[in-house]
Amino acid sequence: MSATHPVFITGGAGFIGSALIHYLLAETGLAVVNIDALTYAAHPASLASVAQHARYRFSHTDITDRAALDALFAQYRPCGVIHLAAESHVDRSITGPAAFIDTNIVGTYTLLEAARHYWQGLSENQQAAFRFHHVSTDEVFGELSPAAAPFNEHSPYAPSSPYAASKAAADHLVRAWQRTYGLPVLLSNCSNNYGPRQFPEKLIPLMIIRALNGQNLPVYGDGCQVRDWLHVDDHARALWTVFRHGTVGATYTVGGGNERRNIDVVRQICDVLDRLCPDAHGSHHRLIRHVPDRPGHDVRYAVDAGRIRQDLGWQPQQDFEHGLAQTVHWYVSHRDWWQPLLQRNTAPAGDA
Ligand SMILES: NC(=O)c1ccc[n+]([C@@H]2O[C@H](COP(=O)([O-])OP(=O)(O)OC[C@H]3O[C@@H](n4cnc5c(N)ncnc54)[C@H](O)[C@@H]3O)[C@@H](O)[C@H]2O)c1
Repeated sequence: MSATHPVFITGGAGFIGSALIHYLLAETGLAVVNIDALTYAAHPASLASVAQHARYRFSHTDITDRAALDALFAQYRPCGVIHLAAESHVDRSITGPAAFIDTNIVGTYTLLEAARHYWQGLSENQQAAFRFHHVSTDEVFGELSPAAAPFNEHSPYAPSSPYAASKAAADHLVRAWQRTYGLPVLLSNCSNNYGPRQFPEKLIPLMIIRALNGQNLPVYGDGCQVRDWLHVDDHARALWTVFRHGTVGATYTVGGGNERRNIDVVRQICDVLDRLCPDAHGSHHRLIRHVPDRPGHDVRYAVDAGRIRQDLGWQPQQDFEHGLAQTVHWYVSHRDWWQPLLQRNTAPAGDA
């Protein structure tokens, strides 16, 4: 491992964490320690190409395990933490909220305490340079009416699902650890991500894979729920930008400015598949089925990313139509990545 202090990435074996690790190893000189409990949502295959990288280490650790976290801080002496580990699927939070309370709230609390303990033992200069970056979601703000202005850093918290409520609780803990103890924290609240290596229970991969298998495409309700999509590689760049240049204590809302109705995303996926892999039974559109809506389903999310654009110079690079077509292409040509995951996927219908 490099002589410099590494950054801890929690949840690095998941969708966004693995994209961030690929980005950091390719684009920066930073060393990375990936701390992940390898839940059902983890896929170590996403990191196979960097598993032997000189600047990469993996620790199979649960973020609720304080003793294990203390040992990792003492061993690696990190320059900061980018905290992504979470239970992340809204449907699962409705059928089984306990894991969301454990990981998203108790886990974040435990990680904050381990980080604080380590940080308090650093020199003044090291303390000033340390960052604890908490990665959160726009879902903490609840739902927007169709005509409302997009969420920004001043939007009030109004979470609808157990997932969103657990992330909201974590956000409050992180801010309190700065106000009370002075821990140098950063927060970012991002809109829906899409791209390669997303677990097949989420809307876009679920629809692609089911369509490839000739299965029905279950769309919640009328499918008119609006999400603001951001490519995962754009999110990875945003996280690095905030970690390096963000103002301590600040929150950054991050989004792609790509508001789309779920039904239109599913139709677009069908169009791409009709071109890429024509089906002898007819267009993939024939597979779309509307199923009963999920409880507490937010009608619209949209994010105003003005602060991160203006203050930190970040902006998304991926056009949604192009990025979605590329994503469909990736799933079509990486069956070996997703096929082993299908047995783990018990979620009834897809949303992001
Ligand atoms: N996916 C999105 O669209 C999106 C949007 C905004 C914010 N976020 C946030 O970004 C983060 C990452 O999301 P994702 O979609 O990559 O999630 P994911 O479900 O794909 O991955 C989560 C990872 O966290 C790990 N993990 C879970 N519980 C753990 C524990 N107790 N200890 C250690 N590791 C644990 C899992 O093994 C998995 O590797 C989450 O905090 C999520 O709330 C996601």
